[in-house]
Amino acid sequence: MANLQVFMLILIEVGSYGSLRFCAAHGSDSLLSNKHSEKTAEKTEGAWAWIDGSDHGNQKNKLHGIHDYPGSRFGASSWQDSDGIVWIYGGQKYGRNTPLDELWSLDVKNQDWNFHRFENKTTSKQQPPPCFGCASCHYGNRVVVFGLSSTFIFHMENENWTALRNLSVSPSPRSHSAYWCDSAKGILWLFGGQTSKEKFGDFWRFTFQEMQWIEVEPPSNTSVVPDKCSKASAWILSSGDLYMFGGSTHSGLTSNFWQFSPKSTEWTKLSGTTGLNNCAGKYGKMGITSKNNYPGCREGAATWVNEQGDLLMFGGSGFDNFSRGPFAEPGLLSDFWMFEMSSHQWVWIGGLSREEGVPVFGEKRKSDPHNIPGPRESPVSFSFANQLWLFGGAGHDVKQRDGILNDLWMYENVTENTPGDTLNISFGFRVLIALFVLTLVLVLSVCLCYSKECRVFRWRRGLRPVIKYKPVKVDMRQVQQPEVHPPLDEPPTM
Ligand SMILES: *[C@@H]1O[C@H](CO)[C@@H](O)[C@H](O)[C@H]1NC(C)=O
Ligand SMILES: *[C@@H]1O[C@H](CO)[C@@H](O)[C@H](O)[C@H]1NC(C)=O
Ligand SMILES: *[C@@H]1O[C@H](CO)[C@@H](O)[C@H](O)[C@H]1NC(C)=O
Ligand SMILES: *[C@@H]1O[C@H](CO)[C@@H](O)[C@H](O)[C@H]1NC(C)=O
Ligand SMILES: *[C@@H]1O[C@H](CO)[C@@H](O)[C@H](O)[C@H]1NC(C)=O
Ligand SMILES: *[C@@H]1O[C@H](CO)[C@@H](O)[C@H](O)[C@H]1NC(C)=O
Repeated sequence: MANLQVFMLILIEVGSYGSLRFCAAHGSDSLLSNKHSEKTAEKTEGAWAWIDGSDHGNQKNKLHGIHDYPGSRFGASSWQDSDGIVWIYGGQKYGRNTPLDELWSLDVKNQDWNFHRFENKTTSKQQPPPCFGCASCHYGNRVVVFGLSSTFIFHMENENWTALRNLSVSPSPRSHSAYWCDSAKGILWLFGGQTSKEKFGDFWRFTFQEMQWIEVEPPSNTSVVPDKCSKASAWILSSGDLYMFGGSTHSGLTSNFWQFSPKSTEWTKLSGTTGLNNCAGKYGKMGITSKNNYPGCREGAATWVNEQGDLLMFGGSGFDNFSRGPFAEPGLLSDFWMFEMSSHQWVWIGGLSREEGVPVFGEKRKSDPHNIPGPRESPVSFSFANQLWLFGGAGHDVKQRDGILNDLWMYENVTENTPGDTLNISFGFRVLIALFVLTLVLVLSVCLCYSKECRVFRWRRGLRPVIKYKPVKVDMRQVQQPEVHPPLDEPPTM
């Protein structure tokens, strides 16, 4: 019996060791705090995938009826309906100074583009003019589009347009305002913008309920307000709070970072600088949040808000980590930043810290952490099912040439076990199974040894037991004794 106990003990030890390894594989606290268990924690990694469009710039529309695809453009305005359809209006093409009046929609789930012609549903007076850097916002089935002329309403159901020409007050015609769409409340917020002559610093609110613009005045003459600027990046949180970064002022690009609270109608300046000597960004280590980090001055960056309410920003035209001094020139950026709401700090989460960087397209439709969309400004950006999408803009193509783009990118944050982790789990399993089999074999052989007197084994283990078995006794009496014949020479007894 001693043999069996020893093996049971070994078995239990093997079992508990195996389960410890198993716990370590899940990244929970474990007694095995070695290098291996550090490596096995769950890891969240985001990666870009080049979904569609060309890796070369200055592309024409593809209009064949099937698999239509929009040509290159930048400065288009966009909105999203409740079915996950993204609509894109206007923008500008390569080599033309006149804006576009094209309306496209993208069914994001199926990556299916549609070109929407103005049909007879709308007279030419009712349809919006070509528009570059327009502001737009959707509410239910209606969309407001504001830009170079008047304010227009688009009905997504019927695809018809209406001009709102009898508005009592309205922002003056302009392009490249910062705008925020609160599609839950039906409010379009709009700050600044530009014409060819000037920049603006006025702040407006359009409500779908009243179909009216209202100018938002600061609550007192001592309130701080952002400078006049255009092409600033904008984010709106579900709380209704607005954020704005950078933009171009009369004195150059800025990295001014503002927050506006609709409740107090006050702006708060969170950080920021202006001027060539102060415009370089501070990147720190990629992926490490720090109060010392901040993006450089820029305009025309792409923006998103993630699930956690963090602000995300990609590229734009501006300054990298190096640009300093009187001769510093802005360049196209491909840096990817996150403003973490919980810590109120910036973190550089991807892309390059140098302007005018080389894009990395990778394989089409395949996420890869090494992929980097080309540097660009004024692309279209939108979120869909926790994915961040990016389309077009003015930037660099795969040949590093300046051009207008029509590439479509998707960034996804994937939480999964690292390859080392899965390997370790299966390794643990294999070890467990192998040890079980081994133990079984040993136990079986011990049993066999008991029945077959496996002495060698017992001698080796030094466990030679007191002999408990009964040696087979040969009953001598049962053995027939050979008859002893008297020698022949003995005289028979008569
Ligand atoms: C638009 O109207 C013109 C003339 O009124 C007509 O010939 C044409 O077929 C109409 N187009 C559509 C798409 O209804
Ligand atoms: C546009 O469509 C809406 C419904 O989606 C309708 O109420 C409206 O009358 C239409 N306008 C014009 C000018 O046809
Ligand atoms: C503008 O005109 C429309 C109809 O054309 C009307 O319903 C709306 O009340 C008018 N708005 C103003 C501010 O006059
Ligand atoms: C601010 O407004 C107050 C009254 O509301 C006025 O007395 C004061 O002069 C104003 N200050 C400036 C700088 O305009
Ligand atoms: C910019 O980044 C490079 C490499 O990441 C680094 O060597 C350099 O010191 C940085 N420059 C500034 C001004 O921070
Ligand atoms: C990815 O997910 C992690 C964990 O949920 C989160 O901390 C991080 O901010 C996300 N990154 C992006 C770019 O949304």
